[in-house]
Amino acid sequence: MEAVATPNIPFIDLATQQDALREELDRRISAVLAHGQYIMGPEVAEMELALTAKVGGAHCISVASGTDALLISLMALSIGPGDEVILPAFTFAATAEVVLLAGATPVLVDVEPDTCNVDVASIEEAITDRTRAIMPVSLYGQPADMDEINALAERHGIVVIEDAAQSFGAEYKGRKSGSLSKLGCNSFFPSKPLGCYGDGGAIFTDDAELAQVCREIRVHGQSARYVHTRVGLAGRMDTLQCAIILAKLQRFDWEIARRLDVGGRYNRLFDEVGIRRVQQRPDRTSAFAQYTVFVEDRAEVQSALKARGIPTAVHYPVPLNEQPSYREKSRFGRLPQSERASKTVLSLPMHPDLHPAVQDRIVEAVMKSTKLQS
Ligand SMILES: Cc1ncc(COP(=O)(O)O)c(C=O)c1O
Repeated sequence: MEAVATPNIPFIDLATQQDALREELDRRISAVLAHGQYIMGPEVAEMELALTAKVGGAHCISVASGTDALLISLMALSIGPGDEVILPAFTFAATAEVVLLAGATPVLVDVEPDTCNVDVASIEEAITDRTRAIMPVSLYGQPADMDEINALAERHGIVVIEDAAQSFGAEYKGRKSGSLSKLGCNSFFPSKPLGCYGDGGAIFTDDAELAQVCREIRVHGQSARYVHTRVGLAGRMDTLQCAIILAKLQRFDWEIARRLDVGGRYNRLFDEVGIRRVQQRPDRTSAFAQYTVFVEDRAEVQSALKARGIPTAVHYPVPLNEQPSYREKSRFGRLPQSERASKTVLSLPMHPDLHPAVQDRIVEAVMKSTKLQS
């Protein structure tokens, strides 16, 4: 395939976003440098309040990362050795990692072939009397079947923790991702739909008691200064990162609307040319953390796109049941959809500032380079 000389296209475009927000970013950063409260400064509570208003839950506990949000949630529920936590095999490793860090056993279940989100029937089959929690992942930015999952959990007396690391800003039946279950965990990793300039995350819950426990765990288990009521960790999100999120909230509603436009346009274009893509259910939206298609000849498509200056990524090339560190320590049965998805998914450039002409170029390049349709 001939390489067409085009300017390189960014996979995500944080530079344009930064230009648009430079004044507010500078103002926010300068304010933190002036007051000097780098840990638990005033921007932490200000951001938590702003995010609570956005997500709609009663409590927001900011934490050091999405991984810590998940781990602290498990710790707050006293989930540990002898307990099982059900999660999809097709996710980022952090979802399973935290279960093992808590001392519990990850139980890996399969995903739906069209959305790549966890399959509710597979969750039901995996429930035992050791199951303490279900962790559905809102993969690529789209919530899973949360009503069905919550109902299933309620019948069995277990807790649901939404891994909403990729889905800040998404909606499910009019409710916001993060507020769809007992606990919702977000990540503010720079490339996420709402990202800071380092690591950050947040836990959302309506449960005041659990919120208080999470707050204590994030500061070494302290209920008051040097009163260590429980075992915790250094799980705080630092003040500068909270200030960055506050600046980014200025543009966030516009960005989410743009993500929906860009994702919807990709959908129409790929449907027209008959290339299979991740589906979105009509009763929910995706924050389009990733825009993902399915191609059988992925390696060829990736290298053809690279030659045209179009970056791609694979989320995720190996399901957790095949990962060396999880294979032995997890429980799982057959996972055909997770295995198939890991071989065919391909994520394309996706961000709020993606221009339609660039999108056209990307779709055309995928169409021209794939010989086999999934
Ligand atoms: C599904 C999922 N869970 C958890 C995480 C962990 O978030 P963080 O990188 O903020 O620790 C990520 C981040 O990549 C993720 O995509």
